[in-house]
Amino acid sequence: MAKAATQFACTDCGYSAGRWFGKCPQCGEFGTLVEDVPEAASGPKATLRLVDVKAEEAERIPTGVAELDRVLGGGLVPASLVLVGGEPGVGKSTLLLSALAAISKERRAVLVTGEESSAQVKLRAARLGGAENVEILVATELETVCATLEQERPDVCVVDSVQTLYSSELGSTPGSVGQVREVAGRLLRVAKESGVATILVGHVTKDGAVAGPRVLEHLVDCVLQFEGDRYHEHRVLRASKNRFGSTNELAVFEMTGTGLVGVPEPSELFGRTVEGEIGAAVGCVLEGSRPLLLEIQALVAPTDLAMPRRVGTGVDPKRLAMIVAVLSRHARIALGQADVFVNVAGGVRIDEPGADLAIALAIVSAAKGAPVRPKVAAFGEVGLTGRLRPATQSERRLEECAKLGLVAALAPAGTPVRGKLRVLEAETLSQAAKAGIDAERAEPG
Ligand SMILES: Nc1ncnc2c1ncn2[C@@H]1O[C@H](COP(=O)(O)OP(=O)(O)OP(=O)(O)O)[C@@H](O)[C@H]1O
Ligand SMILES: [Mg+2]
Repeated sequence: MAKAATQFACTDCGYSAGRWFGKCPQCGEFGTLVEDVPEAASGPKATLRLVDVKAEEAERIPTGVAELDRVLGGGLVPASLVLVGGEPGVGKSTLLLSALAAISKERRAVLVTGEESSAQVKLRAARLGGAENVEILVATELETVCATLEQERPDVCVVDSVQTLYSSELGSTPGSVGQVREVAGRLLRVAKESGVATILVGHVTKDGAVAGPRVLEHLVDCVLQFEGDRYHEHRVLRASKNRFGSTNELAVFEMTGTGLVGVPEPSELFGRTVEGEIGAAVGCVLEGSRPLLLEIQALVAPTDLAMPRRVGTGVDPKRLAMIVAVLSRHARIALGQADVFVNVAGGVRIDEPGADLAIALAIVSAAKGAPVRPKVAAFGEVGLTGRLRPATQSERRLEECAKLGLVAALAPAGTPVRGKLRVLEAETLSQAAKAGIDAERAEPG
């Protein structure tokens, strides 16, 4: 086939040109032009009324990893395209090989590997066990992979990784934005037409680099993020997009010598504080439909810096700055001359406003040098006026607190009380700061 003239298109505004620009001449964005394959012109197609569309909910394919199934919304949907993103070494290949091993017991499961040799995969498979029936295809050329899948039509296919495949029709190197987009686009078509549930593995760099899976997110049906510090044994898997289920479902895994093991009770693991410890609070945050208890730690240290530091690990920096400001202004906690550090247990990232109150409480405890009341969890949203707003789904949060043996929850006034758990109501952040702190056990001085 003759090679089509190379075209470059802006991923933001659609501007198209015969050469590459660093800055899009039309919309002025930098680095948005990518190599593009021009589409052949096609004629019109008849439309269809929805009533005439035949659709039956296809049976989902269980992956054999209960936590993964839950994040997917109840298993893999046939003919869907799922993207699993995560930093190098976090355990993507391990998790997906375990899943393929379980799937291969009843269905055909293929692993396309462009990254590792078949011997490397075999070694991992031996470590995990049970993967004898998984079929493996070592290939990097997109055309080969697509042709194989179209012919073999396995039920499930994992492509590890999307960055190593390349299409010879494009001139650019594997892993470039143009290539990654083309690879995903073609695999999407194969998935839909041949009914192969396809899982793409994608690398992300710390800054979510351009050639990373970001560009694919709109293309695929489901985006799973595999997070967690690779230096700790706990990994968190969450769905950030799901066309077939709830997003922000969360699963916790532990990395062991025999692979990733699901942690069924993450609250038990992350929600424990040492009684009487200063600067630690337990928050009850909602991850999708799942309430989760998390220990939040804070350190308030005097500083001579003109711009004191506000450093959060696992919390949104803007949210942290806001909470610090509201504490200073409305709860009279002087933080102007202090660095504030906040850390969430287990490498979990929280991006839900219901965690505000627990973050604030940890900071208050650190600033006052007094521990949070024992066996109390906090949840609620902090408003700019210092007033607290009830968090969503408070009943489920309270249930989780009760399940883990807590005695009370500190929550905004108006939070519906259910069950046996005592609710310490507070209307403002200032009231919450008083109610949540065990002043009798404050450090002297
Ligand atoms: N024998 C072992 N015992 C315990 N953990 C191991 C063992 N071998 C590997 N691991 C863990 O597996 C991790 C690598 O997993 P895996 O190769 O699945 O990651 P990945 O996300 O696919 O990485 P990459 O992006 O490089 O492909 C290592 O960081 C290590 O923690
Ligand atoms: Mg890998």
